[in-house]
Amino acid sequence: MISFDRHGPWALVAGGSEGIGSAFAQRLAAAGINLLLVARNADQLEATAAALRAACPVEVRTLALDLAGEDMLARISAASEGLEIGTLVYNAGAAGGPIPLVDQPVGAALANIRLNVVGQTLLSQHFARGMVARGRGAIVLVGSLGAIAGCKNLAVYAGVKSYTQTFAEGLWAELSPHGIDVAALVIGRTRTPALERTELPDGTGVPAAEPADMVDFAIANLDQGPVLVPPEHVQGFTALRGMPRRKAVQIMTRSLEPQTRDLMP
Ligand SMILES: NC(=O)c1ccc[n+]([C@@H]2O[C@H](COP(=O)([O-])OP(=O)(O)OC[C@H]3O[C@@H](n4cnc5c(N)ncnc54)[C@H](OP(=O)(O)O)[C@@H]3O)[C@@H](O)[C@H]2O)c1
Repeated sequence: MISFDRHGPWALVAGGSEGIGSAFAQRLAAAGINLLLVARNADQLEATAAALRAACPVEVRTLALDLAGEDMLARISAASEGLEIGTLVYNAGAAGGPIPLVDQPVGAALANIRLNVVGQTLLSQHFARGMVARGRGAIVLVGSLGAIAGCKNLAVYAGVKSYTQTFAEGLWAELSPHGIDVAALVIGRTRTPALERTELPDGTGVPAAEPADMVDFAIANLDQGPVLVPPEHVQGFTALRGMPRRKAVQIMTRSLEPQTRDLMP
């Protein structure tokens, strides 16, 4: 579980304005934890913050910035100066739709790597220092089932999500002896505004989970890191991980049909 006493008085939610991030923010606020929410769209961010303030007696601050930007760490560090950030939730990280790497603008892959790999690493390092000094805290990195195997037309996304999981494992080994919970939350298709904006009208045919259910699962199992896989995905997760890699890539790629159907040979 998450609590003010066990984890500390403030949480930073990177990508906290909608979907899974705002569901985390709701649960944290309900536990009496103050929030610093980060996302790019200032209006959406402020609307989410206002709803949280109306629902819970906590302080909610916002910071509009691009987590893939080079000034990200300096600006977040300045905005959180003097706050005891005891919980870091790094949620932002979606890929957009599937596109072959050779057809993407150069900056798209770099932005995805900065958003997922660089952002998670720098913020985890920054806030873990204070958590270690205090002997309490939590770091939750939102990952994806897409981490289990490479995927055609999502090569960079699968790669960065694989980093999320392996990074969380190592971080858990380093930080759990200091009383800090660390977990990668490995989720599948989830009904977020970002998914709805990027998905083709006929989707993949795979039912989408609700953000609140994924968040409740993560919070209930926070001390069971380093990798949290919702029960409905454990069998597929285990099977794909143990499979010959070519087969795993084929299955992962086909699982995204019809999203990728038009892009298949
Ligand atoms: N939805 C799914 O089906 C699904 C499946 C597997 C894994 N996941 C993972 O779940 C997480 C959340 O996914 P999501 O579908 O909700 O979409 P998302 O775009 O990764 O997350 C949405 C939140 O992140 C913010 N955000 C996105 N890019 C940002 C950036 N560059 N800088 C600052 N904030 C940014 C968004 O606000 P702004 O747009 O205003 O910045 C919003 O608050 C991601 O890590 C994703 O990989 C999602």
